[in-house]
Amino acid sequence: PQQITIGLFGFGSVGSGIYHVLKKKQIPRIHLKTIVVKSPNKPRSIDSKNFSYRAEDILEDTEINVVLELIDDAQAAYTIVKKALESKKHVVTANKKMLANHFEELVALSKKHKVSLLYEASVCGSIPILRTLETSFAYDNLKSLKAISNGTSNYVLTRLFQKLQPFKDIITDAQKHGFAESDPTLDIDGWDSKFKLIINNYHAFGVLNTPEEILNLGIRHVKPEDIEFAKEKNFSIKLIGHSNLDEEGLTAYVAPQFIPKTEALTSIDFENNAVEIDAEFAHQHLLKGKGAGSIPTASAVLSDLVSLFDDYCYGYSKARQQSAEFNDEKLIKVY
Ligand code: HSE
Repeated sequence: PQQITIGLFGFGSVGSGIYHVLKKKQIPRIHLKTIVVKSPNKPRSIDSKNFSYRAEDILEDTEINVVLELIDDAQAAYTIVKKALESKKHVVTANKKMLANHFEELVALSKKHKVSLLYEASVCGSIPILRTLETSFAYDNLKSLKAISNGTSNYVLTRLFQKLQPFKDIITDAQKHGFAESDPTLDIDGWDSKFKLIINNYHAFGVLNTPEEILNLGIRHVKPEDIEFAKEKNFSIKLIGHSNLDEEGLTAYVAPQFIPKTEALTSIDFENNAVEIDAEFAHQHLLKGKGAGSIPTASAVLSDLVSLFDDYCYGYSKARQQSAEFNDEKLIKVY
């Protein structure tokens, strides 16, 4: 579209972040028209006259052509996104849980109604990983992908390596910074990383997994003695979402790993994220950046919004999916 008129759902960490970024940038042809939030009583950083409380104020407004879905509740997000696509509105979302659970249906809906469904901010915050997989590596053959994709877990591990302290105090800090989910078990038990791995796998390998197919072990079980052991051996501990493709198929899992300090991934600290890719032609690449937080994540939302001017939509690594050596059934291997 030539003109982007946005209806924004949610004004939490990312929602308020994109509000401030858009205000600062004042991009011609982008207009944030309506903001819908759930609770009228919650204190927010801008005046309550800016908010509306009915989803229809966005979904039934024919002037709004882009729905920005940035709410916390994955089930409610699914209902909103579905309706938005069915109303032929483009959708930009950061909701990894919703996407991982309803990927196939939502992608099919966006294709059916010929609108874009973009979600760069759902994986690794500010890192342009999906776009990179879709463009630069679209015709390469990916062999493996390793991601530090949960800012909260990485923040907790970094702080634990600095000084042993109660887990829950660090989580409270991560929540204050706007990194952790409202339900932080999603972060520390590896669910969030798994949702992101599913999205990455789709764009990297053309394989669509469901959450049930991938094992997730989080950092909850990392004990003080594990940290002592790691320090003694000159290792780091990182929560890794790992996918590896060989003749047998794709192996994917999320688990904390000991990583020798000589490896680049060990230098990724606090809420930073990184994705290490190994591809047949391009060989190894490491993308790193802020993986959580209001403004960095808003930068990825902004990149999706402006790409709508060019009618950008994902190609779902068509080249890889169409390649003869790919056979979906063979590719899914439960670890
Ligand atoms: N809770 C997520 C994290 C937010 O800690 O990485 C960004 O997706």
